[in-house]
Amino acid sequence: MTVEEADVRKETNRALKRFGRKKDNLIPILQGVQGKLGYLPEEAMSEIAGYLGISEIEVYSVVTFYNQFRLNPPGRHSIRVCLGTACHMKGGYITMDAWKRRLGIDVRETTPDREFDLDSVACVGCCVMAPVTVVDGKPEGNVEPTRVDGILLNFELEREKEAKESK
Ligand code: FES
Repeated sequence: MTVEEADVRKETNRALKRFGRKKDNLIPILQGVQGKLGYLPEEAMSEIAGYLGISEIEVYSVVTFYNQFRLNPPGRHSIRVCLGTACHMKGGYITMDAWKRRLGIDVRETTPDREFDLDSVACVGCCVMAPVTVVDGKPEGNVEPTRVDGILLNFELEREKEAKESK
């Protein structure tokens, strides 16, 4: 068992103690554990299944059924592409494809360096700026593929600056 797995199991067990061993508690338990860890890794799902006396498949089915649950760790930066009607009409799917290609991940995944996680979102109320991408909680307007490159370049410059400052 790796250190990370051991930590996940420890944190999961700590969260489990707040709930009774009733199958009805599965969703609140998943919410509680995700609240602690930021996502639901395999080891956590296996601990939960053992605690409630149900199969791991049953836990996994619930986790994948509800959008609120994450199977991947959150990235340092969150990228949420709006796929509401206005953004869809203005090419939101093209923007999403651009993010997927540039980051090398699919929707609801995290880059291996845990810098970015990518997901879609429903209308965020800024339709006049469509297509919109919400970057770290801030809606950015007119995000077409070239703007995706610009946003990523800014992050890269920021990282370089941080690296220089820490030397
Ligand atoms: S549809 Fe994207 S902000 Fe409204």
